[in-house]
Amino acid sequence: MMNKLAEYELILKQVEAIASEESDVIANMANISALLFESLSDVNWVGFYRVLSDELVLGPFQGKVACIRIPLNKGVCGSAAGKAKTIRVANVHDFSGHIACDANSNSEIVVPLIINDKVVAVLDIDSPIYERFDEDDQTGLENIINLFENIIIKHGVIN
Ligand code: SME
Repeated sequence: MMNKLAEYELILKQVEAIASEESDVIANMANISALLFESLSDVNWVGFYRVLSDELVLGPFQGKVACIRIPLNKGVCGSAAGKAKTIRVANVHDFSGHIACDANSNSEIVVPLIINDKVVAVLDIDSPIYERFDEDDQTGLENIINLFENIIIKHGVIN
């Protein structure tokens, strides 16, 4: 069995294959969320929120119907966007201000997508398992988002 970082390396290569020649950011978000939803174990929601005029707006995702707009600095997504830092939440019920979209979610990771020092979107992943996301998940997902940032910069298209 492959270790987690090796699995993320494989996903990274797949992201490169499906997204690097495509300039449409929404299309790439759709395929990246589908790829992660299919590849990761024990996840019930994977998707993007875009940062548009100081609020987060639901983007392409896989999973149950979710809240559409989240104010900056609210919830796990708004906090990660406001801080421009990844946030890992071992137990969402202990996170003050957590916004529950799917009652099955118990842990969460949110990774910001930063272009020219500006947070333009976040990747949000939920799991029904407590403490599902560790440092290796954070590293693997940040590498994927870093590649996505470079693809967006290469094509010169932001939102
Ligand atoms: N739980 C998130 C809201 C988005 S859903 O999980 C899809 C939050 O607290 O920001």
